Amino acid sequence: MKKFKLVIVGGGSTYTPGIVKSLLSKKEDFKISELRLYDINEERQNKVGVIVKKVVEMFDPEVKLILTTDPEEGFKDADFVFAQMRVGLYKMREQDEKIPLKYDVVGQETCGPGGLAYGLRTIYPMVEMIDFCEKYANKNYWIVNYSNPAAIVAKAMYKIRPNARILNICDMPVAIMRNMANILDCDRHDIEADYFGLNHFGWFTKIRVNGEDKTDELKAYVKEHGYIPPDSRSEVRHNDASWLHTFENAKHIMQMFPKYLPNTYMQYYLLGDRIVKEANKDHTRANEVMEGREKKIFDAVDQYNATGQIDLTQFFTGVHGEFIVEVAMSLAFDSRKRHLVMVENNGAIKNLPDDAMVEVPAYITKDGPDPIRVGEIPTFYKGIIEQQEASEKLVVEAAIEGSYEKALMAFTMNKTIPSAFVAKQILDDMIEANKEYWPDFK
Ligand code: NAD
Ligand code: G6P
Ligand code: MN
Repeated sequence: MKKFKLVIVGGGSTYTPGIVKSLLSKKEDFKISELRLYDINEERQNKVGVIVKKVVEMFDPEVKLILTTDPEEGFKDADFVFAQMRVGLYKMREQDEKIPLKYDVVGQETCGPGGLAYGLRTIYPMVEMIDFCEKYANKNYWIVNYSNPAAIVAKAMYKIRPNARILNICDMPVAIMRNMANILDCDRHDIEADYFGLNHFGWFTKIRVNGEDKTDELKAYVKEHGYIPPDSRSEVRHNDASWLHTFENAKHIMQMFPKYLPNTYMQYYLLGDRIVKEANKDHTRANEVMEGREKKIFDAVDQYNATGQIDLTQFFTGVHGEFIVEVAMSLAFDSRKRHLVMVENNGAIKNLPDDAMVEVPAYITKDGPDPIRVGEIPTFYKGIIEQQEASEKLVVEAAIEGSYEKALMAFTMNKTIPSAFVAKQILDDMIEANKEYWPDFK
């Protein structure tokens, strides 16, 4: 059986132990010979590495684990690259969320101005990573990318490195499908979804369970309860109060626009005023994560170093880890499994531009995703998608051209921002906050 070399970029991520658990759980079918963790932050990665080492011992002690900050050592002959870098760490996520809120605009990691800011930080480190793959990895390498903001990253990589073997994915649709499965009392693998949109900006149009259409039943439930399952079968991920609130908010969207089932991220575009009203401008999701998920992992390392005791199960993140591994296996074995992923549109959604990066169902082959044809979408959905897509396109062009005007257009275009005056204030504050990270604008 072929054995694969796999590198996780952003090895110091809070998600690494969960991904490694999911990966090594599949060892009978997807055998890893070497697992490399690559990061630019050695200290952070070494800490997370303590936990990863335990996970390897538990699930597949035959795997050779390497922790490195050297690109050659990390990428050499790699077959798979799982990317999950957070450029600027949680400190910068905090800025992405808090700066817009000062102006009563949605403050979010990947949506609105926060997402645009995070995009401007992430584009060039991702390009650098692709160049490492081209230089050192197996020539048939595949990058499966989680690094956010995935919509902007996907668009930028397609433009700047069009030949890169990168597939951009998001765990939100599959996490919603996990909740749908709980609501419909089935396994999430029994669900087949029809879906269209951009990343963090889309809708489910049909839900089938083992071939049976369950869309109407599900819509009736979501109208009342959002995506909160009837019992608490949820997993470690997406279980904080703020996430439960997000899942519940889908009901408002469903009540007003009953045609399709929304991605939870639509709340930031369709319910923005309420999101801002409910936000604590001094304590945002970044603070919750720094005090929660991030602290938990570093505390566990300290505790393990002091006592030799550790509870690994708290780092097993369910669908997040499972999904990236399922996608990689379909790429590795050409199994044409159907997953919701980001692809260049090229007619998949008939009435959207060919060069839009859309999120749709696709069959995952050894040569990449083979998307299904979605057909035409109705005016309301087409209109707001086009606005968001134009905002993302402009921010990518701003990064490439170093254009302040295009950056300002991207912010002004975004549905979360009420005027060009506000867009300019937020942009100027963000330029200051991102001095270390953004391309220079003229
Ligand atoms: P984290 O801060 O815990 O970890 C990110 C790691 O990336 C850090 O160790 C950091 O040092 C490292 N890093 C930063 N720049 C790098 C570079 N240029 N090269 C290599 N490593 C680099 O973050 P996290 O919360 O675990 O999230 C990781 C990433 O995954 C983020 O981008 C997050 O937004 C994303 N994410 C995406 C999805 C999705 O649906 N697509 C889901 C969950 C998380
Ligand atoms: C979902 C999204 C990810 C995002 C994450 C944030 O899973 O799909 O793209 O990074 O939520 O979750 P957090 O718990 O960090 O707020
Ligand atoms: Mn996502």
